[in-house]
This record gives sequence, structure tokens and C-alpha cells, in this order.
Amino acid sequence: MNYEGLTLPKHLTIIMDGNGRWATERGLTRSEGHLEGSKTLEKIALYAYEKGIKILSVFAFSTENFKRSKEEVGYLMDLFVNMLNKRHYVFKEKDVKVIFSGRRELLRKDVLAAMDKITNDTANNKSGILNICLNYSGQDEIVDATKNISRDILAGKIKIEDIDRHLFHQYLYQDLPDIDFVIRTSGENRISNFMLWQMAYAELYFPKIYFPAFTTADFDEAILEFNRRNRRFGGNETKSN
Ligand code: FPP
Repeated sequence: MNYEGLTLPKHLTIIMDGNGRWATERGLTRSEGHLEGSKTLEKIALYAYEKGIKILSVFAFSTENFKRSKEEVGYLMDLFVNMLNKRHYVFKEKDVKVIFSGRRELLRKDVLAAMDKITNDTANNKSGILNICLNYSGQDEIVDATKNISRDILAGKIKIEDIDRHLFHQYLYQDLPDIDFVIRTSGENRISNFMLWQMAYAELYFPKIYFPAFTTADFDEAILEFNRRNRRFGGNETKSN
């Protein structure tokens, strides 16, 4: 689709849901669903950058996902290592900087090593940002920011009176603009503890398509939907995107 004249979200997020159901409905294992989902992620991310999106955050693994079976968690961790190690040249080639949000604790050493390698290798890339949220919880991000602010107050680096939205933002995991648009696939209408602070004024979109089946045409439709929204940011004047 031609994107001329369309407004793009500056910061887009995708909650990649429905891998398990996509697989089960096809008589496949949940792991096969996750593998297909990882291919969809690469395809959609590269398409989004090609169309001019600069910042993409994706929910790859929530802290709550550790409640899943050992096998499924193990498979997902193997998939992250594989994808980060084997496909990381794609992000290097496309000049995309890969960063991670979430707590490092509980993650396996090989996962951390693969994360660190791609972070270092793509640190100077400028065309786009891929923020992969792994062992991520939006509430924990706010808790972690609060702890670090408290530490800096106790160390005398800042004063309580200095705390405002702008300062709080500086203590989040990443220095990214607020989210404009959230796509959650699979038809579930919730945000599941994802980037709560950053989503304050985001437009939400819930296509009834499992993530592995999400195509570039579905992505086009999502961007058209974003362009149909009237964003007022609490005021009463319609602001275009
Ligand atoms: C949710 O579907 C999906 C996940 C918990 C995993 C998402 C991970 C990927 C798509 C791989 C990404 C790879 C990298 C390197 C970032 P679900 O399992 O909850 O599906 P269900 O609700 O149908 O069971």
C-alpha cells in the first residue's frame, strides 16, 4: 500500500498474541506457533521500518509468562537466543538499533549474552529502533523507576520537589517517546501490564487475527485505522495525528 499522506505513529507497539491458538487450531504444537510468530515479527518489523516507522516496541515475554510450563518457557528462551544470534545481521543490515526492556534477573545466561551482543552490535544504528520487552512488566517498570528515584533522593542527587512527569520518564527502562498506537492481535481486548506509563494516550487496536497469521496487508489496515482516530489528548480540539 502507498503510505503517502498518512500519519505514522512515532512509537508503535505490538502485543504479539495468539501464537498458541494459531498452532492448536492447526494441530501443531504451541512451540511451532511461537516459531511462526518469530518469523512474523521479523517480516512485520522490517515492513514497518520500510514504511517509515522509527520506533517499534514488542512484547516478547512478560514476567507473568514465567508461570507457563517449563517446556514452553524453555522453548521460548531457546527461540530468543536462536533468533537474536542467527537473524541479528538483518537488523545490522537494515540499520535498526535493538534494545531491551525488562528485568535481567531470572533470564538465562545465554539469553542475556545474546541480548548484550545484539545491543552492542547495533548500538550505533540510526534508521529505526526495535525495543524487545523480555521478562517485562509495566508495573515493575514503574516500581523500578520509583526505587531508583528514591535512591537518587537519598544520595542527594535530586529533591522530592524535582519529581514530575518529565523526571519520572527519565527513570524508565528506555528513553523513548510515549506510545501512539498499540496493536494487540488475537482479539483479546486488554493491555496485560504492557508499558503502562508510556501508553497513557495511546490509541488501542485489537484485530481478531492470531499473530502468526498477521500480514503486511493487516498492518496496512492497522495504519489506516490509526489515521481514522481523532486524538484529543484530554482537550476538546481535534488534533490530527
Ligand atoms: C503470546 O501468544 C506470545 C508469546 C508469549 C511469545 C511471543 C514471542 C514471539 C512472537 C517470538 C519473538 C522473538 C523474538 C526474538 C523477540 P500466546 O502463546 O499467549 O498465544 P495464545 O494466547 O493463543 O496461547
